[in-house]
Amino acid sequence: MRYASVTERLKHLGSAKWDLHFRARALAAAGRDILEFTIGEPDVPTPAALIEATTAAMNAGRTGYSNGRGEPGTVAAVARRYAARRGRPIGTDQVVCIPGTQTALYGILRTLVEPGDEVLLGDPYYATYEGLIAQTGASLVPVPLRPEHGFRLQAADVAARITPRSRVLFLNTPHNPTGAVLRRADLAALGEIARAHDLWIVSDEVYEELVFPGVAFTSPLDLPELADRSVVAASISKSHAAPGFRSGWVVGPTEFISRMLPLAETMLFGAQPFIADMTALAVSEPSPVAAGMADRFARRAAMFLDGLDGVAGMRVHHPEAGMFTLLDVRATGLSGEAFANSLLEEHSVAVMPGESFGGSLGGWLRVSLTQSDDRTAEAIRRIAAHAARLQGHAA
Ligand SMILES: Cc1ncc(COP(=O)(O)O)c(C=O)c1O
Repeated sequence: MRYASVTERLKHLGSAKWDLHFRARALAAAGRDILEFTIGEPDVPTPAALIEATTAAMNAGRTGYSNGRGEPGTVAAVARRYAARRGRPIGTDQVVCIPGTQTALYGILRTLVEPGDEVLLGDPYYATYEGLIAQTGASLVPVPLRPEHGFRLQAADVAARITPRSRVLFLNTPHNPTGAVLRRADLAALGEIARAHDLWIVSDEVYEELVFPGVAFTSPLDLPELADRSVVAASISKSHAAPGFRSGWVVGPTEFISRMLPLAETMLFGAQPFIADMTALAVSEPSPVAAGMADRFARRAAMFLDGLDGVAGMRVHHPEAGMFTLLDVRATGLSGEAFANSLLEEHSVAVMPGESFGGSLGGWLRVSLTQSDDRTAEAIRRIAAHAARLQGHAA
């Protein structure tokens, strides 16, 4: 039988990147005590008030069909939140509610690009982006994110890769896997290029509320001169420890939203009203859990830095936000994949090979910051021992 070409484009972009994670889970299910530092899930439960709001809405009969844009109260709450933060009006016609950042990005890219177009994306990048771009038929143009610039996307690196086919500059700030947060000056310089070449700016801001103490978050939406070309996607998954609720949104120019709306309707025919009610509550008040997570994740990032930087030639990155840190293990002579595989086999510690996040993280590891301090300390001890043994072999 024949299948659409999109299935070919996505064939190798699914779970292969998560091989090690699934192997670790299988070992754990078979009874081995695995220290799992692969994926990042919030380290606290969804706040009780939000669970109660959801069940109250279900009990109140909020279980019917919704509409493509989202429940009016939720759309208004998201618009209010963005208007308040940006200090300028953002109308309800600039918002679509949609089940999570992932779905939001799918819809955004579907609205903006097609075969023949190019999407400029910082490399390394979050593992699903390759598939998100590939599903549209557009090409991913990787732009190296360099450790010497704190992994922040540099305008000169973007400028060098612009072609007549460039359509979208795809940002992720705060960034997964590097934890980098773009500065206002970075965005101004990137914005100048976007304006000069008539590019859309798509910004995945799902980690906005997990910025570490002392770091300031800026969105392209904060720069008025970029308002007509910037589209933001975010959700309550990280900020409210609620990834299973699948509740997010898109904020962008009115015409963009009106063009994306039929796509959202075609895909979803609306989201769940009881989840919409809970989301309206979530975005209307400060998150009760985000600041605590940011504090703990910053503390654990410092534990990795103190415990492993310089050990057996390893270097440890200093993230500014998010749920991950990066270890540079190139000095051991192994790829990230080989290091991660042997670490799992010999020390029962599961971390992600950098190679899962694009070509430029070869020889690096991504480590999650969401495990308890005790387990983090133990993982640091085992990683140090493993690297020291590998270095002994290499010497
Ligand atoms: C950078 C990035 N974007 C999007 C997502 C998915 O977010 P959501 O749960 O809102 O779909 C994740 C999840 O880990 C992520 O790391």
